[in-house]
Amino acid sequence: MRRTMVAGNWKMHGTRASVAELITGLSALTVPSGVDVAVFPSFLHIGQAIDGLKGQAIAVGAQNVAVQPEQGALTGEVASSQLADAGCTLVLVGHSERRQLIGESDEVLIRKFAAAQAQGLTPVLCVGETLEQRQAEQTLEVVGRQLGSVIEALGIEVFARAVIAYEPVWAIGTGLTATPQQAQDVHAAIRAQLAAENAEVAQGARLLYGGSVKAANAVELFGMPDIDGGLIGGASLNADEFGAIIRAAGN
Ligand code: 13P
Repeated sequence: MRRTMVAGNWKMHGTRASVAELITGLSALTVPSGVDVAVFPSFLHIGQAIDGLKGQAIAVGAQNVAVQPEQGALTGEVASSQLADAGCTLVLVGHSERRQLIGESDEVLIRKFAAAQAQGLTPVLCVGETLEQRQAEQTLEVVGRQLGSVIEALGIEVFARAVIAYEPVWAIGTGLTATPQQAQDVHAAIRAQLAAENAEVAQGARLLYGGSVKAANAVELFGMPDIDGGLIGGASLNADEFGAIIRAAGN
C-alpha cells in the first residue's frame, strides 16, 4: 500500500511573521496515520520551519537545490548536503515555474535530482503540460518525455526513492483544476511508463497531483486509484485549508 502524501509548496511567499503564524496553525493539526505531510518553504524560512515544526509529523523540504551535492564555490546556490544537514528530507525538482520562468533544462534538473539523492533527500519530480500542449493532445507525450529523460539518465531504480508530481501548467494558480479523470489518466500513464521498466518500482511510486487543489476538490482527486496525494500551492499557505486537504487525504 502506498502512503498518501500531502505537500505544501509555499513558493516565493512568506515573511518571518507570516511563516511563524503558519507554523502555529500547522502545529495544531492532527495528521492522520496513513498520511505523510511535508512543506516546502523558501530557503530563507527552512530553518524557521524545521525549528518550529520539531516534534510534529510534518517534514520540511526545499524548493530547489544546487546541481552538485557537496559544498563549494557556487555563489547563491544551496547544496543538498547543506539541506540534509539543516534537517530537510525532500526537494522539489523540475517545477514548471523553474522550467519555464528560470529556463531550467532537463540536463540541469537531472543533475539536481541526482544531487538530492546523493545526500539521502527524496526528490519530488514535477512534470506537466502547458494548455497549448493539452489542446494539441500532446499531454501524454510531453509528460512521458519529461519523465523519460530522467529514467534514461539515471535509471528506473532511482524512482524507488523519489516522488512524482503531475502538475498541469494550466491548472497551477489559475483556479482551474484537472478533473479527477483527466488527472487519473495522466497518472495511469506515468505508472505504466514506470511499469514498463520495473513493475515493483511502479507499484510503490507515489504520484501526486498538483494544480489548484483545495479542500473542496481534494476528496475526489485523492479518490482516484493512481493519485497518491497532492502538491498544493496557494491553499497550503492557509493552515485551515491545508489541514482540510490533509483530512481529505486521510479518508
Ligand atoms: P496551486 O495549488 O497554487 O495551483 O499551485 C500548485 C503548484 O504549483 C504546487 O507546486
